[in-house]
Amino acid sequence: MSTTPILLDCDPGHDDAIALLLALASPEVELLGVTTVAGNQTLEKTTANAIRVLEFSGHTDVQVAAGADRPLLREQYVAADVHGDTGLDGPDLPPPRSQPVAQHAVDFLAERIRSSVRPVTLIPTGPLTNLALLLALHPDARPERIVLMGGAIAEGNVTPAAEFNIWCDPEAAARVFASGLDVTMVGLDVTHKALFTQAHVGRLAGRVGEMVAELLRFYGTFHRKVYGFEGSPIHDAVAVAHVLDSGLVETLERNVEIDTESELCRGRTVVDLWRRTTREPNAHVGVEIDSDGFLELLIERLNSLE
Ligand code: BDR
Ligand code: CA
Repeated sequence: MSTTPILLDCDPGHDDAIALLLALASPEVELLGVTTVAGNQTLEKTTANAIRVLEFSGHTDVQVAAGADRPLLREQYVAADVHGDTGLDGPDLPPPRSQPVAQHAVDFLAERIRSSVRPVTLIPTGPLTNLALLLALHPDARPERIVLMGGAIAEGNVTPAAEFNIWCDPEAAARVFASGLDVTMVGLDVTHKALFTQAHVGRLAGRVGEMVAELLRFYGTFHRKVYGFEGSPIHDAVAVAHVLDSGLVETLERNVEIDTESELCRGRTVVDLWRRTTREPNAHVGVEIDSDGFLELLIERLNSLE
């Protein structure tokens, strides 16, 4: 089996942490490095959290590079209501022992993409600031494929119109969707259909599984209280899972534009689902998910970690 080289650009974040663990546990991919961005919490905290998760799971060989500490133009906003003050509230994870590499995430991404023998898939699971900067500063360092968690055809979670990652930095997202790169959008339309319930939590085992169970106890409380959900959407892990097994998420090729103009619809991913315009498709948009397949894969892989 040939493995796909991947880079994970994230803002851990409960579901980012689980996405990272899924990547680490999966032989289909080779994780070339992790970059961090401000989003769910400040850059300092998301970077510390990425390192904490790697150290806890014994993957200290994976390098972490810290990136943008704020969106391109907008004020910084953190999702402490969802992820807590640390960004990873719940388990009692020790503070990081090591530091991120000295290189900025954007230069780190460029170097890893250029030096990889095989084409790289970039998986952004936070605001798209680092990726927009990569496009601007290193136009030759183009990943073969972007599989991002963000957006929605028909709903929002931070506002009625917008999903958090795109809303945080809509100008960055607009640049990514206009880049001509092969972009897949894994949005709320699919992630909200695959909830990790208490029954799933009960099947988590082992040291890492127990830690994830504690993450989900905290994260699940928010989703029960705010959405009345019976479980938690593990948004970012769906993007990783789609790279592992493309059959898990059904996509349609459609045009996606980002609303950067209006206040009401800031960050909305305007998906031309019914092809009402002549705009060319620029993304593969997730529309359906094999939720049982995804959840089974996730549990199996998390439980395989020591
Ligand atoms: C996205 O926003 C963040 O809170 C999550 O980590 C995920 O990437 C879901 O809208
Ligand atoms: Ca995230």
